Amino acid sequence: RRQLLGQIGGLAGVSILSPASLLVAYNTEAIAADDKRAAPPQRITNGPFDVDFRLRAEPDTVPILPGAPSEVWRYTAALMRGPQDTLTSVSGSYPGPLIRLRRGQRVRARLENPLPEDTTVHWHGLHVPPDVDGQPRLPIKPGEDMTVAFDVVDRAGLYWYHPHPHGPNGGRVGFQSYAGLAGPLIIEDDTERALNLPAGDQELILVLQDRTFAGENELTFVDGMRSMMRGFFGDRVLVNGYSPTAREVGTRPYRLRILNGSNARIYKLAWSDGRPVTVIGTGGGLLGAPEQRPYVTLPPAQRIDLWVDLSDAKVGDQLALVSDAYNSGMMGGYSGLPAGARFELVPLHVTRRADKGPPLPKVLDLDLKTSSTTPATPIRTFDLRMEMMSGFSINGRQFQGAVVADDEIVTLGDTEIWEFVNDSMMPHPMHVHGLQFAVIERSKRSGLRGWTGLDAGLVDAGLHDTVLVLPGERVRIVLTFTDFDGLYLYHCHNMEHEDNGMMRYYRVRS
Ligand code: C2O
Ligand code: CU
Ligand code: CU
Repeated sequence: RRQLLGQIGGLAGVSILSPASLLVAYNTEAIAADDKRAAPPQRITNGPFDVDFRLRAEPDTVPILPGAPSEVWRYTAALMRGPQDTLTSVSGSYPGPLIRLRRGQRVRARLENPLPEDTTVHWHGLHVPPDVDGQPRLPIKPGEDMTVAFDVVDRAGLYWYHPHPHGPNGGRVGFQSYAGLAGPLIIEDDTERALNLPAGDQELILVLQDRTFAGENELTFVDGMRSMMRGFFGDRVLVNGYSPTAREVGTRPYRLRILNGSNARIYKLAWSDGRPVTVIGTGGGLLGAPEQRPYVTLPPAQRIDLWVDLSDAKVGDQLALVSDAYNSGMMGGYSGLPAGARFELVPLHVTRRADKGPPLPKVLDLDLKTSSTTPATPIRTFDLRMEMMSGFSINGRQFQGAVVADDEIVTLGDTEIWEFVNDSMMPHPMHVHGLQFAVIERSKRSGLRGWTGLDAGLVDAGLHDTVLVLPGERVRIVLTFTDFDGLYLYHCHNMEHEDNGMMRYYRVRS
């Protein structure tokens, strides 16, 4: 047992080297030069701070499956200042604390790294300055810490945080978040509170992650050629760090806020009785109005906000949120649960009668604003391809550290259309740091096979920081670069793809 743990938890024995990362020229000189050019770090905004907390990434041993506890890396946190409910937990297992912030707060966090390797803390989806964004060019070294501060300016919604280190041998996002470093972050505001959506124990916050365990419950992470191609797939799915377990509910509406924190798995969320799925929000907050889907397609890093009304249920009824089957077009060879397998996620057992609760509002956000385009709005194209020797690329390039090409520079204040064209056989959940965007067009260009049975569940309305681009698709998004100049990342959020180079910086020039 010791030895396996050593391989998985300890780092010396784990090789995350892959052909792709070996081919990536990781340009440390360019990074150094870039840091000199850059303005002085904006990591510290002045106080006073409304919220002040400490977040530590550390090894721990926690119960996950029945039997022996598992060794993980997890975030622990302590609140120095701020509302008591700023830090709570969705689990007694490994997922990071639920960080609950309010729009308008000024936040300071001291990030501590007692791990044996570099890490960072990235606030996924938040509009924060480059230097507090947890990018790989600003690692927190083993034994060191970093203090960051930012204003909470984003819409109310479910965001999340996770590491983002990338060294000469490739990225460690997949490994570190797999080891347990990831947590949900909620932003609240008055607009949302006025809607009176289900709260307290009628609000379920669910973090979905697939994992594989060895014989004595050791977390097992498989790297190599196969996972570089399609990403890591575990042999079971954990919800908030535990095997799916039934939740007791009453006869009333519930709000389910779901984060796909998996390395590579795409979920096809559906109700076991075939009822439509009611969507009220996406990663960037509430939709203008609720939408219904037969099922919801949730790629890695995306969040979805669902509403389900159990008012008409009877005590004793059961309903489950499942991940339904789809065709991934990939034959065999899975050591884990294949992409496209059907399994149960959240069984709900109706055990009590309850007040009906307020109905679902017909309008959720009257002034949901997205950037508007004109025929003159520039279009920037990103071609997603598979290179023969090295893996996935964006416009023929892979990660090279903090350098940008001429066509990766945008201007502060500008609005642009970015189009992602997927000419590969794998889906790519494309993520842009530092902002929320709108999806304005999705079209099929070619008949690349596989990954069918997911289209009807795509939720393109609302605001997003991550958008799924299926094989053969062209997806257009519109984004506006505001407030902060400097470097940000854009990448595929299949963690094995990003760690193997499907990631680049872009620069916002003032
Ligand atoms: Cu979830 Cu580059 O991040
Ligand atoms: Cu991000
Ligand atoms: Cu990808």
